[in-house]
Amino acid sequence: MNKSIDMCTLSLFILMLVIAVLVAVLAGPASPLTWSLAGVLVLIPVVRKKFMDRKRIDWSDKYSVGIDSIDEQHKKLINLINTLQTIVDYSTGEEFERECLAAVVDYTKVHFVYEEGLMRKYGYPDFEAHKAQHQKMIDKVNDLLAAYEKNPKRAMKDALDFLKQWLIRHINGTDKQYSEYLLSKGAH
Ligand SMILES: [Fe+2]
Ligand SMILES: [Fe+2]
Repeated sequence: MNKSIDMCTLSLFILMLVIAVLVAVLAGPASPLTWSLAGVLVLIPVVRKKFMDRKRIDWSDKYSVGIDSIDEQHKKLINLINTLQTIVDYSTGEEFERECLAAVVDYTKVHFVYEEGLMRKYGYPDFEAHKAQHQKMIDKVNDLLAAYEKNPKRAMKDALDFLKQWLIRHINGTDKQYSEYLLSKGAH
């Protein structure tokens, strides 16, 4: 559903509920209906927050590649993606959204350069294949950025879905493959 329509529907629903509670209070404050409506009103932000939290990625040790400097960068990337998700969910404005999306893309590139530098420095045998995956990801992100210019709402959803899925899959798959080799060479 369109994000603004979604927010508008929720606001309208809350407004109607507030009016219903007021009418119910006037009709009789002790009525079970009054308390039920008030309860629903209180629960709405709690349920909404729970729903929003499910879209976030929580860092877990199972994502660790065993190299502190890289784990720190992966954590920062996850934080940036979570921030972007929050900005989108709370409709904080397109300018803020653009800035945060650019920050995610820029830091992803910084991270790739760092990771590739380590692999090159220690002569990682699968360097070229790993670098090709990074490049493929950057190409896809560039496509999403172009799509964002045409249809920001649709493209932002696609970008968030892609960034979250790609990052976790890449960390847990391709990145973990270099752990043993780089650690044996003294990377930290
Ligand atoms: Fe990587
Ligand atoms: Fe990585």
